[in-house]
Amino acid sequence: MNPTELARIANAMVAKNKGILAADESTGTITKRFAGIKLDSTEENRRLYRELLFTAPGAAEFISGVILYDETIRQKTKDGTPFPEYLSKQGIIPGIKVDTGAKPLANFPNETITEGLDGLRERLIEYYKLGARFAKWRAVIDIGDGIPTSFAIKANAHALARYAALCQENGIVPIVEPEVLMDGGHSIERCEEVTNVVLETVFNELFEHRIYLEGMILKPNMVISGKQAPNRAPPPTVAEATVRCLKRHVPPAVPGIAFLSGGQSPTEATLHLSLMNKLGPLPWPLTFSYGRALQDSTLKTWGGAPTNFAAAQKEFIKRAKLNGLATTGRYSPELENQAA
Ligand code: 13P
Repeated sequence: MNPTELARIANAMVAKNKGILAADESTGTITKRFAGIKLDSTEENRRLYRELLFTAPGAAEFISGVILYDETIRQKTKDGTPFPEYLSKQGIIPGIKVDTGAKPLANFPNETITEGLDGLRERLIEYYKLGARFAKWRAVIDIGDGIPTSFAIKANAHALARYAALCQENGIVPIVEPEVLMDGGHSIERCEEVTNVVLETVFNELFEHRIYLEGMILKPNMVISGKQAPNRAPPPTVAEATVRCLKRHVPPAVPGIAFLSGGQSPTEATLHLSLMNKLGPLPWPLTFSYGRALQDSTLKTWGGAPTNFAAAQKEFIKRAKLNGLATTGRYSPELENQAA
C-alpha cells in the first residue's frame, strides 16, 4: 500500500466543484432502466449508453470519477479506446463496483448481506491493471418492523471493512457505502437513529481493520424520511439532520463524503446537497456520487434514439453542472430552467 498515492486519489475524487457518476448498474439493473424507455438491454446498447455519458462534452469539469461495472470496464468507445483509458485522458478517474450484490442473510428474515469477498484480491489486481483507481462496495440496511438488527448491521460493516482493507492493499481507494434505504413509511427521526448506529458501527470496523482513513471515501445515504412517510421532512431539515449525523460519526481524517441519491428525485438530491454545503464550513467536502439522480432525465431524453444522442448528453451535463454548483451551496431551483 502507498498511503500518499491513496490519499492523492481520494482527494482528487472530491475535488472542488466535482463529484462522481455512478454508472455501475449491474446488467439486471440497467435492463430495468432500459425497460423504462422500452430499449432492449443488449451488450451494444449498454455500451452505447455508457459512451453517451462518458463522452458528453465538458463532463470533466464537473465529474471527478466514474464507477464502472465489470462489463463496462472492458468495453470501448466506438473508436476503439477502452473506456477507462478514455476517461483517464479527460482527467476523470475510473472506478469499479466490486461487490456481487446484497443476498438474503440466513436466519435474519428481510435482511441482506453484501457478498463478493471471495477472490476479491485477485479481482482488484486485475481491475487495477484495467485502469481502476477506486472501487465501490454497497451494503444495504433496510428499515422496517424489527429491522435492522444489530447483527445485520455488524455483519455488513465487517464485510465493508474487509473489502476496504483489500482495496488499500492493492492501491485502490475504497468507496465505503453503507446505504440505509429510504423505502418504507418511517420518519426522518427513525432514519437518523439507524444511520447513527450504522455509521458508528462502520467506523469501528474500519478502525479494527486498520483502514487508512485518509485513503477512503464515504458514500452514505442522506438522513431523510421514508418515501411513503405521511409527512416527509422538508429539505432544510434533511440537510441539518444529515450534517448533524455525519459530524457525530465521520472522522475529519476522511477526505470526503459523496452521497448516493437512493431514489430521491434529481432536483431533490441536488437541493439537499446544496443546502448541506450552505451549512459549512464542514470538516470534509460533501459531494455527489449519484446514479439515478444524474441519469434519469438523460435516459428519458435519449430514449434509445440516435437523433436524441446529443440532446441527452446536454441533459447529462446540465445535471452534472447543477450538482457541481451544489457542492459549494450555489444551487437554487430557479437555475433548473436556465442551466441547459
Ligand atoms: P443512486 O444514486 O441511484 O442511489 O445510485 C448510487 C449508487 O451507486 C448506489 O450504489
